[in-house]
Amino acid sequence: MNDKRIENYREYFTKDYLMGPNCLRLLDEMRRKYPLAEGGRVMDLGCGTGLTSMFLAKEAKLRVFATDLWIAAAQNAERFISWGIEDQVIPIHADANALPYAEGYFDAIVSIDAYHYFGAKEGVFAEKILPFLKKGGVFMAAMPGVKEELTGEAADLLMEWVEGNKDDYDTFHCRKWWLDLMGKSKEYEVVMDLDLDCYEEAWNDWFVSGHEYGIKDKAFMDRGMKRYLSFIGLVIRRK
Ligand SMILES: C[S@@+](CC[C@H](N)C(=O)[O-])C[C@H]1O[C@@H](n2cnc3c(N)ncnc32)[C@H](O)[C@@H]1O
Repeated sequence: MNDKRIENYREYFTKDYLMGPNCLRLLDEMRRKYPLAEGGRVMDLGCGTGLTSMFLAKEAKLRVFATDLWIAAAQNAERFISWGIEDQVIPIHADANALPYAEGYFDAIVSIDAYHYFGAKEGVFAEKILPFLKKGGVFMAAMPGVKEELTGEAADLLMEWVEGNKDDYDTFHCRKWWLDLMGKSKEYEVVMDLDLDCYEEAWNDWFVSGHEYGIKDKAFMDRGMKRYLSFIGLVIRRK
């Protein structure tokens, strides 16, 4: 499942850019399985340092609105200029709960390793995200999750990993849970759902990135989390 194109971005697989499992591997698998039409307008929701925004601009030939909460737009603007993509990628500082865009504006909304932070609640998708898609537009997300909802020792290990933070704990769900949350509507349909193949590689890139959280995460993987975790992919089309 290796794509050679990913190798062109290897210089960015470091703690200066990665904020978790390798977002480019996750995005590349998603868009190879569900190609996005070139030339459209995409919101990269929770873009972090903008790696996925660069990838969408360069590889998918999309115009990108690189939207993030924790990373300042000015920081991403500097990066986009240094990468020579400032005319294709617009940095926006915004909260997914109150997006500043025109309704029906986007051909696609992509959210890699971010949607679980704000989207794991009833109503968020239909009320706060979907309105910004054109009819026929697609929402594409990949989020860390679990193979099956955790119980017993596995649940205890996850709680220890997230240091007892119930909000963080509640972001980890299985594919069925996500489908039950988002699966049925007159407004949209789920057109693809999967557990991503690149899950281990994406985590491994993070472990060797040099980031202190990567080192901590690896310790929990080695203690058994690896058996339970997955990466959940969803593609939803607005009707
Ligand atoms: C683990 S980082 C991943 C960043 C990037 N997608 C990547 O994979 O490298 C999660 C991102 O979600 C963003 N995020 C969390 N809550 C958000 C919200 N309410 N609105 C917009 N972005 C949010 C954070 O700002 C952060 O950059």
